Amino acid sequence: MAGYTLDLFAEEPAAQTRTELAAGAWLLHGFVLAQAPQLLAEVAQIEAVAPFRHLITPGGYTMSVAMTNSGALGWVSDARGYRYDPIDPQTGRHWPALPALFADVARRAAAEAGYPGFEPQACLINRYVASARLSLHQDKDELDQRAPIVSVSLGLPATFLFGGLQRNDKTARHRLVHGDVVVWGGPSRLAYHGVAPLAAGSHAATGECRINLTFRKVR
Ligand code: SIN
Ligand code: FE2
Repeated sequence: MAGYTLDLFAEEPAAQTRTELAAGAWLLHGFVLAQAPQLLAEVAQIEAVAPFRHLITPGGYTMSVAMTNSGALGWVSDARGYRYDPIDPQTGRHWPALPALFADVARRAAAEAGYPGFEPQACLINRYVASARLSLHQDKDELDQRAPIVSVSLGLPATFLFGGLQRNDKTARHRLVHGDVVVWGGPSRLAYHGVAPLAAGSHAATGECRINLTFRKVR
């Protein structure tokens, strides 16, 4: 009937609502929903230059998540350890530059969560297919830990595990869907976090995978 709206019954949370995961950590529901197609188009450009690859951990395991980077620095792992490197070890060339749109959404999301002036230097791009997972870890390879981590979810939904500052602290499970952004900083900057094995599925925007962008200020 004219004049009625069904918005109240939408299945996804309305854009721009937020959930506090812990002190200084926010889930911004649907924050980049409008920019998602352009963000994915940028990922396609980046992977054409710096392909997704499965990195080896210092302990000799092959990661189930495929990774690439854009920005002045990229996060890499190999037998020597974890580090940030301006050069893609696979191509011997610089990582593709951080797209202006990436910097803009990261800056706006950080500000929305209470961290104004965020200037990311690195964007790690994670690609998850069914059963890929990221075990509980801290993001602590950055020299400057005053800046937050900004994490953008695209495509298939995931279960994000968010714990405390100790590895054995209890972890809460949060569902992340296409367009969501998580920002953690301040008292939560070194919180343990991870991603549960991805459930198989297909998403209109990404097909059978989930893409995650994490933005970091490194130094
Ligand atoms: C990460 O911890 O680097 C990625 C988190 C995610 O994929 O949501
Ligand atoms: Fe992380």
